[in-house]
Amino acid sequence: MKKLNIALAVLLGLTAFSAQASVANAEKLAAIYTTVAKGANPDFVASVADGKVFFNQKVKGASGKETACASCHTANPADAGKHIATGKTIKPLSPVVNAKRFSDYDKVEAKFTKHCNDILGVDCTPAQKANYITYLLTESTPTAKAK
Ligand code: HEC
Repeated sequence: MKKLNIALAVLLGLTAFSAQASVANAEKLAAIYTTVAKGANPDFVASVADGKVFFNQKVKGASGKETACASCHTANPADAGKHIATGKTIKPLSPVVNAKRFSDYDKVEAKFTKHCNDILGVDCTPAQKANYITYLLTESTPTAKAK
């Protein structure tokens, strides 16, 4: 826990002046989740491949319906998503194309907790969060629109 508190203190200092620098901030967040994950598994290394699998993995919910993060965020996180229940457009999740993403630790934690509980029934682990952000950072090319 001590490690986490130090990491949080560092992060809070960062978010104060780098709201624009979403990529740098997302990298910091991934590094923090990685540090926490290493507490449970010293060999943990954040993985783009694992993040991508997790993002697209369909999980059967209480209603019996299968949902993945990609169900709303689309298979390409550089594209705008669409909410499966409300039909509302969701701005792209990748911090490379959307400067507003992963800029606020508290918001990111709140969204992770909510969406992970919605989809998985539990919060995501720090390892899953580290993989997730590490994967999103590699998605920088929106799908070409058919002309
Ligand atoms: C039912 C639709 C839906 C599903 C499924 C979904 N999300 Fe989201 N997610 C949203 C919406 C809507 C937003 C945008 C809210 C906003 O723009 O502030 C969002 C935003 C986020 C953010 C905030 C990023 C930021 O800094 O702005 C994170 C993190 C996130 N989702 C993680 C996940 C994860 C992890 C999963 C899969 C376990 C997931 N989401 C599945 C609808 C969904």
